[in-house]
Amino acid sequence: MSTKKKSKNPAKTAVKEEKKIAAKLIPIYIMGKRYEVPEGLTIMKAMEYAGYILIRGCGCRGGTCGACGTVYRKPGDYKLQVALACQKTVEPDMYIAQIPFFPANRALYDFAGLTAAPEEVFKLYPELFRCVACNSCTKACPQGIEVMDAISALKQGNIAGAAQLSFDCIQCGLCTSRCFGELAQYHMFQLARRIYGARIVPRAEHLVEMVKAVNEGRYDRFLDELKQVKEDELKKLYQEREVEPMVAGEDWKPEDTTYL
Ligand code: SF4
Ligand code: SF4
Ligand code: FES
Repeated sequence: MSTKKKSKNPAKTAVKEEKKIAAKLIPIYIMGKRYEVPEGLTIMKAMEYAGYILIRGCGCRGGTCGACGTVYRKPGDYKLQVALACQKTVEPDMYIAQIPFFPANRALYDFAGLTAAPEEVFKLYPELFRCVACNSCTKACPQGIEVMDAISALKQGNIAGAAQLSFDCIQCGLCTSRCFGELAQYHMFQLARRIYGARIVPRAEHLVEMVKAVNEGRYDRFLDELKQVKEDELKKLYQEREVEPMVAGEDWKPEDTTYL
């Protein structure tokens, strides 16, 4: 009988190794309770793995809705960290608590009556001037927004600046949770962007022309024709329609310009 050991199949070993890595569990603490969860999961998936059913604090799962603001602390680190639960992956011994909603002051206003005067913002959010320029908000923002600069712009009456700086805000409220001045930055930014969009940005002329054309009935005949088409034919028309390419010049037009 041969004593020679069987040589290992490297492919099989790699698969086994991969499974071992995929199954590696790490300890984390959710609301103070210890759980073992697979390494590599996001905080959100780890919470679900641990048995949490997320009804609040979970929305897009893609880092855009702002529903999953989370705070955590790592062992040996004095600093409280912030993250989006759907984006941040778990690390061993993290202490995690979710902040799905942060109770922040949101002013009530009738937007139709608002102008672009900075005083409108000052009146609705007088706490704007409680900002002590500590920059904690900027450090807390998972979107990398210069939150303090946007607040400074608002204080200076620069609504357009505040709107542009805060364009990527997802309303997660993490800045507000860290604010020394008790400001609800994200609600202020939303107001700034609304005023900017409705009162400051010049109207797009081509859009004005198009709305006029629609109101004058330029498309009524085409819509009436489409309404007469049977469902299957309508689907076919839709599937075969000419679609604007992903990369197209400003002057791109469909070959059939009947509907322009
Ligand atoms: S500005 Fe505030 S609310 Fe907006 S994304 Fe940043 S931390 Fe979240
Ligand atoms: S955290 Fe609050 S007080 Fe500090 S800079 Fe930001 S808005 Fe101002
Ligand atoms: S679930 Fe929407 S940002 Fe995390």
